Amino acid sequence: MAIDPIGVRPFELVAGGGLLRVLDQRQLPAREEWLELHEVESVARAIEELAVRGAPAIGCVAALGLAVAARRFPDDPGQFRSAFSAAYQRLSRTRPTAVNLFVALDQLAEAITRLGPDTDAESLRVALLTTAVRHVDDDLKACLAIGVYGGALLPNQGGVLTHCNAGALATAGYGTALGVIRNAVVSGKRLQVFADETRPVLQGARLTAWELARDGIDVTVIADNMAGALMAKGEIAAAIVGADRIARNGDVANKIGTYTVAVLCRHHGLPFYVAAPWTSIDRNIATGAEIPIEDRDGGEVRTHGREVLVPPLAAVRNPAFDVTPAALVTAIITERGVFRPDEIALA
Ligand code: MRU
Repeated sequence: MAIDPIGVRPFELVAGGGLLRVLDQRQLPAREEWLELHEVESVARAIEELAVRGAPAIGCVAALGLAVAARRFPDDPGQFRSAFSAAYQRLSRTRPTAVNLFVALDQLAEAITRLGPDTDAESLRVALLTTAVRHVDDDLKACLAIGVYGGALLPNQGGVLTHCNAGALATAGYGTALGVIRNAVVSGKRLQVFADETRPVLQGARLTAWELARDGIDVTVIADNMAGALMAKGEIAAAIVGADRIARNGDVANKIGTYTVAVLCRHHGLPFYVAAPWTSIDRNIATGAEIPIEDRDGGEVRTHGREVLVPPLAAVRNPAFDVTPAALVTAIITERGVFRPDEIALA
């Protein structure tokens, strides 16, 4: 099968910017269904309910969704700005951990602040749409550059472990961790990707496996508790993951279970790489202890579809992310180059 060099694009603007189509990732891999969004509330729900997920994609969809919704904001400039503020607030309450969401929304806020209070609503709409589209273009370009920097780091052959989905589906296309893998495979490296299934929402089993198989890349799904055994047998040469937020000291928040992978890598002497665009770095946060970790509904752990997995009297916990200390990270791969975690503060 020929390798798809970019991968799926998980959202698209249609109708001249009047409608946002989003691939509903909750339905994958069973069905490819697209949501049609043009209001703030439906965009917010799509993010909260994981129809779209992955740090960069959340930021892109929030920005595009707000710009699309602004078509229906009042023409009075004051009322337009009030509607913008309400939309900004609603979207910023959707998911707390990925900083890309706040970066994207702030870019839109700055674009209309720059235009001054008397600017007519139509010019404000144009500014929002232009800024949102630029944010998306920048994300795709960042992913492609991350791929080039990171592809060179991966071994010429062997197993590469990834966790969650940091692929085309989680970005404007191509992916961060999976972009690195795409670049390495296209340049001739013979990699076998191991995708942790990633309990409880199964982003690895459902999404990473779907997009890599679709794109002609060798992928094997393992249950999360199998990674250590494969490492002990020498079947994994490196691990690469994405990030939701990176603190100034290089601590990395990413999907729950990432920390476990990093500890396993350290024990087995394997490199543990983080691939992320600059929009995932939060310079306002000194260490990972300050990163807000989303607690999701326990139903995600208790049940799988209609099947009940946990007895009702047992409690469950469902933190959606964990923090990997900088000391366990071999390198952070960005569109500006490859950094040791302790270099992030100075970069
Ligand atoms: O809860 P999710 O699916 O949004 O979590 C996604 C992740 O943790 C990804 O690894 C991260 O956002 C990086 S995506 C390029």
